Amino acid sequence: MNDIPRRHAALDMSPDEFRQIGHALVDRIAEFLAWIQDRSNPVTRAERPGQIRSLLGSGPFPEKGTPAEELLSEVSTLLFDHSLFNGHPRFWGYVTSPAAPVGILGDFLASAVNPNVGAYDLSPVATEIERQTVRWIAEMIGYPASCGGILVSGGNMANFVCFLAARKAKIPWDIRKEGVGDTRPGRLRIYCSTETHTWIHKAADLFGLGHDAIAWIPANENQRMETEALRKQISADLKGGMIPLMVVGAAATVGTGATDPLLEIGAICREHHLWFHVDGAYGGFAAALPEASADLKGLRDADSLAVDPHKWLYAPLEAGCALVRDPKALLDTFSYHPAYYRFDEHADEGLTNFYELGLQNSRGFRALKVWLALRQAGRGGYERMIREDCRIAAELFRSLGSHPEIEPLTCNLSIATFRYVPADLRGADRSGEEYLNKLNTAVLARIQSGGMMYPSNAIVQGKYAIRACVVNFRTTVEDILGLPDLVVSTGREIDKEMRPA
Ligand SMILES: Cc1ncc(COP(=O)(O)O)c(C=O)c1O
Repeated sequence: MNDIPRRHAALDMSPDEFRQIGHALVDRIAEFLAWIQDRSNPVTRAERPGQIRSLLGSGPFPEKGTPAEELLSEVSTLLFDHSLFNGHPRFWGYVTSPAAPVGILGDFLASAVNPNVGAYDLSPVATEIERQTVRWIAEMIGYPASCGGILVSGGNMANFVCFLAARKAKIPWDIRKEGVGDTRPGRLRIYCSTETHTWIHKAADLFGLGHDAIAWIPANENQRMETEALRKQISADLKGGMIPLMVVGAAATVGTGATDPLLEIGAICREHHLWFHVDGAYGGFAAALPEASADLKGLRDADSLAVDPHKWLYAPLEAGCALVRDPKALLDTFSYHPAYYRFDEHADEGLTNFYELGLQNSRGFRALKVWLALRQAGRGGYERMIREDCRIAAELFRSLGSHPEIEPLTCNLSIATFRYVPADLRGADRSGEEYLNKLNTAVLARIQSGGMMYPSNAIVQGKYAIRACVVNFRTTVEDILGLPDLVVSTGREIDKEMRPA
């Protein structure tokens, strides 16, 4: 007997209701996008966790539901009033871009159709859009378009996918069956510079090699890997009976945007049959610029490459991308064929089931927002945006020369670093340097919590630096030229408070 004759599911919504609530939400988002572009509004209100928690209250999970219209209105206000806005023209922290508006709409559309992009049969057009996205990304930056690739949640995950492909390809035994095997500390070796992003710690740890497997190669005064030291370390390891697997090069480093000598690292890898991986999470897309350095363009020689569309393609979070020169290396690493899947019907047409190319099984349609942005801007549009970001950082760096209390440190791609140095502490000794590090730490904290501009920090040869990273198509030269003045006025204020009498 059917005792559910007609369902009134608590979560369903009539199409008319959806239209009405959706239109109201889009109107609020449009107002929000106008609001964050008004420079007099803050990048962040820097509220404390307790303040935010008290807004949400500590009530139990409610027994009764709330109408969606009311909820969306309430939560829009909550988010617009209590967030940090990386879409604000004066946000230059970490490596985080504004969300391309077409990507915002793309995410909305993607979740409306809700394809499961794990298997072609569950997501026919979405799978093909992801394949095209991967190919266009490779073409854009000069990587072989015949590569394998997959979209993931970000730079860390893209590096993990590549790391696992390298591990499978280079460990000289059946790792699927035997695991990483003999785990004597440091037996398996991975080489990277001391400037490498912390994903490498997580990868070495989580994927069974351990931190002792990492051979840290020193970086020179320009934060680039010293290749002579790399050569020596590989030779010493080979003599010592260790098993070198891979070298990780940066395009470019998270701290200062320095690009490792990728051409030479590639040659060293070929000489020793090592896997050459490039972390291009920050700078990979700058290789699209015709004027990019030969080393940056050298990422085309990599066996695998991580890039990050939610950085310099300006896609809304989350979107990373792993590219692997030999598509079979991804299948060898991730493909399984359980009896409960029948997803190989179109194998003769070059079928792609993305669950066979990465860590995820069910997968969302994150490719749509990236694909839409690629199509909206085209190669020319992207080249202009990326080039302008770099020029704005260069303008900032150039302007630092006219501020006697600022010490310029580095400028690469779209990252400029510098620090506040009171006039009498120029050329400081060791204890002076310690004080300058404390002072600049405090300066950055006050600027960030002040909320009108948002740089972050880098450590440059032991110096705590203020760091502006422009991956923001809304930033103008005028916006960024206000930063040194703010650093100087904040620096003077804090120096007065902090300096021992
Ligand atoms: C060079 C580099 N690698 C990896 C990452 C990690 O990327 P995600 O935060 O998207 O995981 C970053 C992030 O800034 C980065 O700059």
